[in-house]
Amino acid sequence: MRNIPFNKPYLTGKELLYIDEAARNGKLSGDGVFSKRCQSFLEERYGFQKCLLTTSCTDALEMVALLLDIKEGDEVIIPSFTFVSTANAFVLRGAKIIFADSGSDGDPNIDPTLVEALITPKTKAIVVVHYAGVACEMDTIMAIAEKYGVYVIEDAAMSIDSYYKGKPLGSIGHMATFSFHETKNIQCGEGGCLVINDRKFIDRAEIIRDKGTNRASFFSGKVDKYNWVDLGSSFLPSEINAAFLWAQLESLDLIQQRRVEIWDKYAAAFKEFEEKRFFQIPKIPSYATNNAHMFYILNENKTKRDQLIAALSARNIMGIFHYLPLHQSPFYQSKHDGRDLARAVNYSETVIRLPFFFCLTNEEQELICETVVSTVTSDCIS
Ligand SMILES: Cc1ncc(COP(=O)(O)O)c(C=O)c1O
Repeated sequence: MRNIPFNKPYLTGKELLYIDEAARNGKLSGDGVFSKRCQSFLEERYGFQKCLLTTSCTDALEMVALLLDIKEGDEVIIPSFTFVSTANAFVLRGAKIIFADSGSDGDPNIDPTLVEALITPKTKAIVVVHYAGVACEMDTIMAIAEKYGVYVIEDAAMSIDSYYKGKPLGSIGHMATFSFHETKNIQCGEGGCLVINDRKFIDRAEIIRDKGTNRASFFSGKVDKYNWVDLGSSFLPSEINAAFLWAQLESLDLIQQRRVEIWDKYAAAFKEFEEKRFFQIPKIPSYATNNAHMFYILNENKTKRDQLIAALSARNIMGIFHYLPLHQSPFYQSKHDGRDLARAVNYSETVIRLPFFFCLTNEEQELICETVVSTVTSDCIS
């Protein structure tokens, strides 16, 4: 029987060519021709003040925590329904995480109306996550941040080429982080970038990314030797990763076009069943665009979700759950302040993500849709 994985990384065909070119350039460590090309492309296309490639989105988040001088006792507001790295980066610097709940009515993003009540004199930053690449309601978040003088960080891991009221995601907060992990629309295996929209962070970010040294200033001739000048780590990706990434960025429009086709086909197949209330499909608010990062279904309850995962699996189709609520995690449970975050728990228990990749064939997608529909409409699903 055929196997339909959840993800299959797409290759444009130019990746090895560019890696070969990087090798011939004689510079394979970071910040070479391909790194600069990727960074300039992202800065120009999305109006980012500065973009620095990193080894992952996780590392970009860790750079943010260093740049904000997060220390013991600082508080950072983060949605509970997110990936562990969103919180871990700040916990590593000693922060207390104040988890916020998700929205109601099928919106897994942070509920902006709950954020103001979580601000205290110790709050340093609000980190929002644009779930599935669909924008959070940023005007409210930015207004709260301004009122209390706290930073906004966009964890835009899934959000390449997505917009909020015409503004590219990643260009709104003080800083933003993207992932180029192989499961993302644009990928290089493992990779990411830090976007800086507040220029005061740029010089220090270059130092932190390069082991706490001012090597970038040395190479650009600003200083005659480089030294250890700050905290830092090895967050700079090699030219091999950047060359691979450049092949992907060059094909961004083509990749996005195909992904939108796949997304629209799922939505069309399931519309009728959503109207009959068998499940919910993603809502794209009027202020947001859809970058077709992911297609998910919200089931009525966990039992139905697990039955659907099993039914797909019986046909060798990989449908998978997503984030487990971080406030209930074994690591953070005892540190959480005890507030009930019922919506985060509910999204975690009811979400299923369907196979989604560039080369998914029409036939495969039809089999997935048919399996979902026949399972949710059958009597045996309780
Ligand atoms: C919201 C979010 N933030 C951060 C990450 C970490 O990304 P990376 O694997 O590039 O470190 C992920 C991973 O998917 C994520 O979903």
